[in-house]
Amino acid sequence: MKTLVIASQKGGVAKTTTTTEMAIAATSAGLATAIIDTDPQATSCFWAEARGRNDIAVASVFPALLPSKLTALEEAGCDLAIIDTPAVSKDTASAAMRHADLVLIPTKPAAFDLKSMLETIEQAQSLGKPYAIMLTMCAPLHGPELNATLARMADLHHEICPVLIHQYVAYPRAQKHGLSVQELDPGGKAAAEMRQLYAYMCRRVGIEAGLLAAPAAA
Ligand SMILES: Nc1ncnc2c1ncn2[C@@H]1O[C@H](COP(=O)(O)OP(=O)(O)OP(=O)(O)O)[C@@H](O)[C@H]1O
Ligand SMILES: [Mg+2]
Repeated sequence: MKTLVIASQKGGVAKTTTTTEMAIAATSAGLATAIIDTDPQATSCFWAEARGRNDIAVASVFPALLPSKLTALEEAGCDLAIIDTPAVSKDTASAAMRHADLVLIPTKPAAFDLKSMLETIEQAQSLGKPYAIMLTMCAPLHGPELNATLARMADLHHEICPVLIHQYVAYPRAQKHGLSVQELDPGGKAAAEMRQLYAYMCRRVGIEAGLLAAPAAA
């Protein structure tokens, strides 16, 4: 079993969005996938409730119980566990990162977000965990902020996910119904980004990407 941790100390940067989208992509590709929600807000759990299907196991788990939960999932044949973490909780993020094959750090290309991102990177580094920065909610016609962020990260030699995630209304629209953008609009731009992100994530954690079949339209 591989474990992907989505973490950022900054709130509202698409941690839960990335969690649910990657879970749907993996499930559609034939991987047994589970979401572990360590956020007291339980947003991934709310998404699963709205989804109303049993295709992805989503459980709210206290950080202290992560080791036993992950062991149980592995014994049950889970291929990929995705841990959604809360903002502003370094202890929980660290508890999750300890198990990570990859820590994905979503970040908006904006000055206020960079400080939190660097703190999250430091956490992953101090635990010796592989990580990648994922730029998200980029404006479709992006300005100089994006290039400035990319240049800064390159200077600091941080790994940047090559897939840029843009701001599309499809994301909140899909989430409202417990869906992914890949299910809501498989031919759309947001879905295409998520397929690329999934392929990148698979390469980085060392799993077969599977068939990469587009999920059935909702
Ligand atoms: N690429 C995107 N384009 C447009 N809206 C997005 C995108 N990604 C996320 N959103 C929206 O931004 C909001 C915050 O996303 P999300 O809940 O995934 O962030 P989070 O980091 O998990 O937040 P929190 O820190 O509160 O847990 C949601 O309403 C979501 O639908
Ligand atoms: Mg969240």
